[in-house]
Amino acid sequence: MADVRPESMERITTPELAKAFIDEQVEAVKKQVGDKKVLLALSGGVDSSVVAALLIKAIGKNLVCVHVNHGLLRKGEPEQVIEVFKNQMDANLIYIDATDRFLDKLAGVAEPEKKRKIIGEEFIRVFEEEARKLQDVDFLAQGTIYPDILESGPVKAHHNVGGLPEDIHFEGLVEPIKLLFKDEVRVIGRELGLPTGMVERQPFPGPGLGVRCTGAITRDRLTALRESDAILREEFAKAGLEGKVWQYFTIVPDYKSVGVKNGLRSFEWPCIIRAVNTKDAMTATIEEIPYALLGKIVSRITSEVPGINRVLYDLTPKPTGTIEWE
Ligand code: XMP
Repeated sequence: MADVRPESMERITTPELAKAFIDEQVEAVKKQVGDKKVLLALSGGVDSSVVAALLIKAIGKNLVCVHVNHGLLRKGEPEQVIEVFKNQMDANLIYIDATDRFLDKLAGVAEPEKKRKIIGEEFIRVFEEEARKLQDVDFLAQGTIYPDILESGPVKAHHNVGGLPEDIHFEGLVEPIKLLFKDEVRVIGRELGLPTGMVERQPFPGPGLGVRCTGAITRDRLTALRESDAILREEFAKAGLEGKVWQYFTIVPDYKSVGVKNGLRSFEWPCIIRAVNTKDAMTATIEEIPYALLGKIVSRITSEVPGINRVLYDLTPKPTGTIEWE
């Protein structure tokens, strides 16, 4: 498949068009790989999940999915990947909990770009190690989409997790959605029967919660971050904001402030809420969240999440702030 989308290619907007695309790609993949094995780093994001579902349809257990938990995933994410792909789709899925390995490597590292570099490189190393253990894997599948091909020069060093292992030779790449835009990938994901929560998932950076647990990551602060993020997502979903706000999450920085909890002085972390809208992530505007909803989220986070005594709402558009804090 060429890297340029032909002008004649129709935008995939309906289940019928999605079905035709799926049928066509299933045949193309079968023809490309025959009865050989294909390896895929399955993060659980929209793109890799759609590629997984498509390849399972085409080649079944000859697709080997590797899900690496780097310890920086959101609450419930690895469980959902296992439930959907292993339990429901009967995929050939290898789950690796590499939490300790990543967090040990990151211990004491406060510099944002250094953190990203460690996470990106360690991910490739873990993935390579697994690939080497497997025998006769000839192809590497990737969830590349058209904007990945078009994009150039991001503000930060985006080390996309799931990069190509450099030391392993593959006969070829399988990139069935590389000419598609995100909205088309979602239509195809729905047609392939992936759960709505997975298909509509907001973007999540490769380094995951690592860029939201600012400074040197500690396990207790990471837990506070994961729990506060889960509360924010739950309350946004209940308020019908899921799918309407482009990206929303919490940040737990590495400093503390004085507060009062249960009549006693507390000295704990703040939690910062970020909720933005954008078209292309190059600029972003702030979402107006109703005060009552913000109040509910503040009350839940400060009472349910150990270590947090204050909640702030980041009102800074991009520019001057980037969407992530690191
Ligand atoms: P910033 O913070 O640069 O983020 O305004 C723009 C968008 O990119 C996401 N992001 C990343 N995505 N790997 C990714 O795959 C990364 O290292 C990374 N850093 C930021 C961010 O979540 C936002 O959607």
